[in-house]
Amino acid sequence: MPAKPFLATFSDSLPKRPPIWLMRQAGRYLAEYRAIRAKASSFLDFCYTPELAIEATLQPIQRFGFDAAIIFSDILVIPDALGQGVRFVEGEGPRLDALEDRAAIEALAGTLDLDKLEPVYAALRGVKATLPPETTLIGFCGAPWTLATYMIGGRGTPDQAPARAFAYRDREGFSLLIDRLVEACILHLVRQIEAGAEAVQIFDSWAGTLPEAEFLVWSQQPIARIIRGVKAQFPTVPIIAFPRGIAGGFSGFIRETGADAISLDTAARLSEARASIPANVVTQGNLDPLVLIAGGAALDLAIDRILESTRGTRHIFNLGHGILPQTPIAHVERLIERVRG
Ligand code: CP3
Repeated sequence: MPAKPFLATFSDSLPKRPPIWLMRQAGRYLAEYRAIRAKASSFLDFCYTPELAIEATLQPIQRFGFDAAIIFSDILVIPDALGQGVRFVEGEGPRLDALEDRAAIEALAGTLDLDKLEPVYAALRGVKATLPPETTLIGFCGAPWTLATYMIGGRGTPDQAPARAFAYRDREGFSLLIDRLVEACILHLVRQIEAGAEAVQIFDSWAGTLPEAEFLVWSQQPIARIIRGVKAQFPTVPIIAFPRGIAGGFSGFIRETGADAISLDTAARLSEARASIPANVVTQGNLDPLVLIAGGAALDLAIDRILESTRGTRHIFNLGHGILPQTPIAHVERLIERVRG
């Protein structure tokens, strides 16, 4: 079997150049994505139609030859499969029937509706069957805290105040929600691995909105429980955690969660973070999605800085957050060329 550079980063045979993929690499910056997106009546229908999800997953691999493919889906399929209505409003983002009180949390389904999620697993099997042998397939879920922010707020907000306020007001009620999400995340990740995912990423996009004590309870501990749960069944599948926006505490986060890799956001200081993280743990990130739009000398310099500060270490080249729809294709090509060059 040909070596997979992405997986090699987690093994003893460290690749000479860092593997590369981009968060949200399937998406609106690709004309071929916009073309198939137009075929589905809604974004969730798109996610739940295996033929379309397979095609969207493979598009960035066919165009750019990234070292990893991430299954085309969304973190909000979990609230959807717990019976909370989820819809995506064109140009605005997700809308959910906000959970207003403990009764609403208790009324959620006790476990995931796996029939609803079956198309996601079917898409993983389909991608796995056609993926180039050197490409790694990544599954994912949203972390409980980030899922809870959307479930309680009913939408994304700049500071996720509704969920933060709920957690202060009713800790016990909020714990019920987090516990249910921990179980749901474990099950969803395990099913994705069974369907062919060779690594998984846990997105905690809103971890950075929490003060330290709240972060430890609502972000770090639930991620630790998920990782323990998945590792109990699949001890060798690499798990990447993305606690976006945490201002420090990387080494404690890795020690307490047991994550195999940490994805660093744009503001994280790469050399400093790398120095505080054990050598056997992989870092991922953290190019500014805006410099990828700018291109030119600014892009080259930003790429070189990341390569320089991670040389000889276990690092996966990626963005600090998802790629933006305005990103020029030529700049993505330039990025890959320079990282591999
Ligand atoms: O990375 C990939 O290519 C795989 C697919 C993927 C999507 N969403 C597809 C998507 C992944 C990994 C996600 C994760 C996700 N979804 C996160 C965590 C990462 C992050 O960006 O912080 C979050 C918070 C969500 C929830 C979500 N989904 C929001 C807030 C939005 C609206 C904002 C936006 O970009 O439009 C989405 C919609 C969404 N998810 C799109 C895509 C390609 C765009 C919708 C469309 O194409 O119509």
